[in-house]
Amino acid sequence: MNDRIDEIRTEAEAAIAAAPDSAALEHTRIQYLGRKAELPNLLRGVAELPPEQRGAVGKAANQARQTLDRLIEARAGELAAQELDAKLVEDRVDVTLPGDPPPSIGRLHLLTTTRREIEDIFIGLGFNVAEGPEIETVYYNFDALNHDVTHPARGRTDTFYAGPDVVLRTHTSPMQIRAMELQCPPIYIIVPGRVYRRDSDITHTPQFHQIEGLAVDTDITLADLQGTLLAFARATFGEERQVRLRPHFFPFTEPSVEVDVSCFNCKDGTTADGRRCPLCKGTAWIEILGAGMVDPNVFAYVRQHGYDPERIQGFAFGMGIERIAMLKHGVPDLRLFFDNDIRFLEQFG
Ligand code: PHE
Repeated sequence: MNDRIDEIRTEAEAAIAAAPDSAALEHTRIQYLGRKAELPNLLRGVAELPPEQRGAVGKAANQARQTLDRLIEARAGELAAQELDAKLVEDRVDVTLPGDPPPSIGRLHLLTTTRREIEDIFIGLGFNVAEGPEIETVYYNFDALNHDVTHPARGRTDTFYAGPDVVLRTHTSPMQIRAMELQCPPIYIIVPGRVYRRDSDITHTPQFHQIEGLAVDTDITLADLQGTLLAFARATFGEERQVRLRPHFFPFTEPSVEVDVSCFNCKDGTTADGRRCPLCKGTAWIEILGAGMVDPNVFAYVRQHGYDPERIQGFAFGMGIERIAMLKHGVPDLRLFFDNDIRFLEQFG
């Protein structure tokens, strides 16, 4: 009897060791230890054996069963580990990889790219970028910028009032005063931002964007303004550009100028095929901004912050971002910037 037990054990041990996967192992377990298998049967029959055999057979059969139980358990652990490894290889996910970037939808608005391009040019010339409030006091928007009390821009037909002394800023120039209050000279800043005027037609929208420039130092002259704007014009519209200054008037600059850039669409006002240039209207020049030397009356408002008009000078300029973008990209209608028509937006950025 004990020989048979040894035989079963040897056979079962080999089968356990050879089981290729958990399912096969379970099959082997049922084959040798299941309810109808020989070894358990044998164990159940021990009681019927002659008393002198019971001890030895019972002990051998029990040991065999325990051994097989242990071997099956060990092999099951091994197989489960192997199967897990295989599964991990099969559906490998490398969690250290960056996630799938979302398909790039959307793009920067033409006004944003234009603003950034202009900022980059002036940063390259040594200017800092500053920003100011869009809701402004009459003091900063008009008074401290030397506007006469009768100046038409103060009127409610031109300007949005949010209170008796509060307006939506009509230009970025109020930041000239705010910046000088905060920082003594020298100062070299540009100020991009939204501005508001009660105007609405093909070339005017109630809200648009400007970039202000302000440079205050000792020995600043109109030539510095011209040189700075020439560098800007060439960086924006091409290296062959020229600029010219025409006399103009602004309350807060003296002298004041309007600045033109030489037309980049024609030669001397005539296109290559001999027509009058539609961009410069045959004049060979295109107006791009207003500028001038900071009026000493303006410095008087910030004299206590270190701006003594006897010691320092400055130039200032203000340009419309939409206008620059329209010229540069041939945008025919100002309202296209704000309609958000995808066919327009998709052409830029
Ligand atoms: N603020 C003026 C405007 O909006 C432009 C300007 C700025 C002119 C700075 C001179 C100096 O028309």
